[in-house]
Amino acid sequence: MLRFRWEFRATLLLLCVWRSARFAVFLTDAEPVLIRPIHVYQSLIKGVHDYFNNTCVILFHGSVTSIEVEGVKEMDGLLELQRYFSGSASIRTAIMDFHTFRTRIGNTYHHIKRPLFVLLNDLDEMREQFALVSKWIAMAYPTWLLFLRDETSFEEFLSDVYVPFDCMMMVTQRDAKEASEIIREVYQISREDGLRSMNFGKWDPESGFRGPRLGLYQRRHDLHGRNIRVVSINDPPVSRVIRDETGQPFGIRGFFGEVIQLLQEGMNCTFTYMEATSWGAQLPNGSWTGLIRMLIDDEADLGASELMMSSDRLGIIKYTTPVYTTRCRAYIKRPDTTAVNWNAYLAPFSFNIWNAIGLTIIVVGLTIAGIDAFSRKADSLPADIKPKTKSSLSEILFSVFGVFCGQGMEPSFLDPTRLVHLSIHLTAVVVLAAYSAALISHLAIKTFLMPFTTMEGLLEDGTYRFAVVADSADYSFFQYIVVIDNDTNFSMVSFLDDKQNTSDNVLTIMFDQLLTKETDLPPNYFDGLTRVCQEKKYAFMTLDNMASVLQGKVECALEPLDVIMQTTVAMAVPADSPYRGIINSNILLLRDSGILQRLIDLEWSSNERWAKSGWSTVEMEDAAPLLIFMLSAFLVTCMVLLIERLFGREQSRIVKQKSTAN
Ligand SMILES: *[C@@H]1O[C@H](CO)[C@@H](O)[C@H](O)[C@H]1NC(C)=O
Ligand SMILES: *[C@@H]1O[C@H](CO)[C@@H](O)[C@H](O)[C@H]1NC(C)=O
Ligand SMILES: *[C@@H]1O[C@H](CO)[C@@H](O)[C@H](O)[C@H]1NC(C)=O
Ligand SMILES: *[C@@H]1O[C@H](CO)[C@@H](O)[C@H](O)[C@H]1NC(C)=O
Ligand SMILES: *[C@@H]1O[C@H](CO)[C@@H](O)[C@H](O)[C@H]1NC(C)=O
Ligand SMILES: *[C@@H]1O[C@H](CO)[C@@H](O)[C@H](O)[C@H]1NC(C)=O
Repeated sequence: MLRFRWEFRATLLLLCVWRSARFAVFLTDAEPVLIRPIHVYQSLIKGVHDYFNNTCVILFHGSVTSIEVEGVKEMDGLLELQRYFSGSASIRTAIMDFHTFRTRIGNTYHHIKRPLFVLLNDLDEMREQFALVSKWIAMAYPTWLLFLRDETSFEEFLSDVYVPFDCMMMVTQRDAKEASEIIREVYQISREDGLRSMNFGKWDPESGFRGPRLGLYQRRHDLHGRNIRVVSINDPPVSRVIRDETGQPFGIRGFFGEVIQLLQEGMNCTFTYMEATSWGAQLPNGSWTGLIRMLIDDEADLGASELMMSSDRLGIIKYTTPVYTTRCRAYIKRPDTTAVNWNAYLAPFSFNIWNAIGLTIIVVGLTIAGIDAFSRKADSLPADIKPKTKSSLSEILFSVFGVFCGQGMEPSFLDPTRLVHLSIHLTAVVVLAAYSAALISHLAIKTFLMPFTTMEGLLEDGTYRFAVVADSADYSFFQYIVVIDNDTNFSMVSFLDDKQNTSDNVLTIMFDQLLTKETDLPPNYFDGLTRVCQEKKYAFMTLDNMASVLQGKVECALEPLDVIMQTTVAMAVPADSPYRGIINSNILLLRDSGILQRLIDLEWSSNERWAKSGWSTVEMEDAAPLLIFMLSAFLVTCMVLLIERLFGREQSRIVKQKSTAN
């Protein structure tokens, strides 16, 4: 809407000016507004517009007063340009001077998407006004096209203008020999650096505009040794700040150290290092702390650490292309294995299978007994294969049970019985193997019972403490701000802003009830996870990848709760950093070439050498049911033996008495 409005206004203004100009007859020899033939403007601007896919064009012509003195001819030229672009080329176009631009559009220029700003001439007035405009406009936002006369050099014209590294500023000048134009692009690596230029493209009447084939950062890939100030956090192992003897940081190790090194090679820059104590959170008065503050205050150019992308930070700093994504959740220490598990020895088979085994034993026992009885009656059988001794049913059942315990059976001479023996032995082998396998794995794999698996559970449990890294996005994730109370006494107050509502009520309560009680939050993830191991009932929120890297370095086994959120990790630059583009394109190169993935794999797998041996011991408690069973069986046997002995002695005494009485 706005676009239409200002376009309309500009045209209206122009018409008024034009009308008054017709009546005022000035006969000055003012320099012309248009320094090229109309068709050159038309074709070249259209060509550049199509190359950059701009949505609209603003033609700057100097100031209102200069128009007034120039008279009808100039006006006609400008109007013809406007007619051409708005009409036959269907490009939204406005013609104005910088003064009108400032008053009519001002800081709302951000509402115009991808504009092309054309400076139609290089008159002194234009140069002065452009220098003023360049002070307040974000130079890198529009695409600039500047027409210069043969005798003007771009260094001269842009002497008071800072053209940032990511700014697309094109300067076109007539080719000395032909009727064509040479277009160069101009930029500065930093404010202190001089203007650099390189060929951008050509225009000639026959083939029109031809731009470069390479992308912006393929052309501007070199920072020529520009010093970039890197700030990081000591957050082992992904970023570790190393210091020299005097305590000055001179490098970063770990994953981000590697990434930074690769960026340095890609961009040909140098780094100086700084360390921040925390990632940064927002104070109630709106100022920030830690790494974020250093970026905002222009103390650093790049924050190379594990920065979670969070919405509250988005406005004030800019993130680079994400380096990786991971998940965020709370971790607790693995609970002790459950005490004596009486079920362990029955658990491998379900109730039905136990029943089936029992039934099999009975059926087989009966079958064998039946065959025995039948064969003894049948006289047709030869005497030598007839069972010699008659065994009782209970004995047969007992020996079939023995088969299931891995015992042998007394061989039989009867073929039917042998067949039954064969089948029962085969069945027993399979059942025994299955039972052993299940039992072994059951004993070897520690079973433990998580007290809870969700944040709600943690809250309900009520005995756990909960912490996050101090001054981090994890902390501000809870969407609260810290207010400083009367006497430097900190307390947390919910920030009741529509944008900052916590989506999850549980997290709000967690914050109120648990996080606020923690006076001494850990400064980094390693410290936090160490506390999980050392302190009783301590839950700590961290990223999955950090937990997997650090698992090998802490003493205990960590157990994750349910995922709280998916999070994207990136590095950060100040909001107006000109280097974001080149850093992003280098990160993308690293990603496309697979180097980033390899770094991630290396970093994340480096914990393997820390990993503890895979053996787990079977504890006394695991075997306790068996031992108790054996012990009680032993006692029962002894008692039975004792009773038998007493009973037997009594009987033999009675027998003896009887015989002596007789
Ligand atoms: C303009 O659009 C075309 C086609 O959509 C695309 O190939 C080209 O890369 C775009 N140019 C720029 C500078 O974005
Ligand atoms: C890197 O920058 C330095 C300093 O400007 C320059 O001498 C060198 O040639 C550049 N290296 C590359 C590979 O461009
Ligand atoms: C905000 O508060 C902090 C801590 O009291 C203080 O250091 C900082 O200067 C304040 N910032 C502003 C802009 O008032
Ligand atoms: C400071 O303390 C007084 C009295 O205890 C209280 O009324 C006031 O609200 C406090 N101020 C803040 C900013 O909390
Ligand atoms: C915070 O306030 C409590 C009482 O409300 C007081 O005992 C404590 O010393 C205060 N802490 C600081 C750092 O002032
Ligand atoms: C924020 O919370 C208030 C009250 O809890 C609710 O009325 C409002 O709709 C919420 N806003 C958003 C954006 O969720």
